[in-house]
Amino acid sequence: MTRRAVVVGTGHYLPERVVENAEFEATLDTTDEWIRSRSGIERRHFAAEGETTSDMAARAAERALADAGLTADDVDAIVVATSTPDLTFPSAATMVQSKLGMTKGFAFDVQAVCAGFVYALSNASALIASGQASRVMVIGAETFSRIMDWTDRSTCVLFGDGAGALLLEAQDQPGTNKDRGILATDLNSDGRYKDLLYVDGGVSTHTTGHLRMQGNQVFRHAVEKLASTANTALDRAGLSAGDVDWIVPHQANIRIIQGTAKKMGLSMDNVVVTVQDHGNTSAASIPLALSVGKDRGQIKEGDLIVTEAIGGGLAWGAVVLRW
Ligand code: ACO
Repeated sequence: MTRRAVVVGTGHYLPERVVENAEFEATLDTTDEWIRSRSGIERRHFAAEGETTSDMAARAAERALADAGLTADDVDAIVVATSTPDLTFPSAATMVQSKLGMTKGFAFDVQAVCAGFVYALSNASALIASGQASRVMVIGAETFSRIMDWTDRSTCVLFGDGAGALLLEAQDQPGTNKDRGILATDLNSDGRYKDLLYVDGGVSTHTTGHLRMQGNQVFRHAVEKLASTANTALDRAGLSAGDVDWIVPHQANIRIIQGTAKKMGLSMDNVVVTVQDHGNTSAASIPLALSVGKDRGQIKEGDLIVTEAIGGGLAWGAVVLRW
């Protein structure tokens, strides 16, 4: 038997305020048509004044617990993927722990920008496989609206806020690629590409900073690296693209999503797409898409899913799991 990390609950939270593309036309030299056609984004949610990453993460986690029919006492660990924590420290994960009323276990953040959720899933799977935890709440949560330069039309129209959560549980499975749970992962980074996507501030430089991106350069890397990491993870699981029911990609740009599916030889009918409604929510985009995809009735028990993401670092990776 093999101890696998199986998804037993999902939940997501989106802030109340919805901002349509057209709102940017008042302050920037941009149009709804440009944003829609270049990125696929139609609207995004922005957190309210005072609403933080850990607030949204805790709401998503509460919903994942309710979905699983479990309580915070049943969870051993919390992993939050975020690049926009409430404070420099403590971690957003420990804040979520307290908001859920959890007094045991352990909690920590993972920072790999838009690839954060696949890194967090990979870590959580290892914690479960090694017996260090039996139930892990894995959350992606971001308030990217706080690090936008509102005068930079090439970035500020692309990002949004939100949170998504998966509750993973250790389950003994036969040990084949027909098992439920996480079957394989693939993580990569290459720090030589730091200047393509970064925030120009931080604790040791005494500012919060703003997101800076050479979008077309990131785009060039994205399709190639995403298809490659997805295929590597599938290969590790002894599976191929033809076995995939759903690609649940990082939701940055519809053209990247379409290009990656095409490169993998899969149709857009096999892709969960939420970018039109959420924009790019960085580490939150995959768990948001998984939770929404399940609520829409797209993702069902037994489906083979590949998640893949790339972001600042560059950092990228993929996770293959059976729902
Ligand atoms: N409205 C109107 N025009 C604009 C806007 C805007 N909002 N933004 C840029 N433009 C202009 C540019 O100034 C440029 O004008 P020029 O030709 O006169 O110089 C023109 O549009 C084309 O710009 P490009 O950057 O070449 O446009 P592109 O087709 O590449 O689309 C985009 C830009 C949407 C940013 C795309 O490159 C992209 O999605 N890149 C990848 C983003 C991504 O995946 N990031 C990784 C994850 S994010 C993370 O990790 C935090």
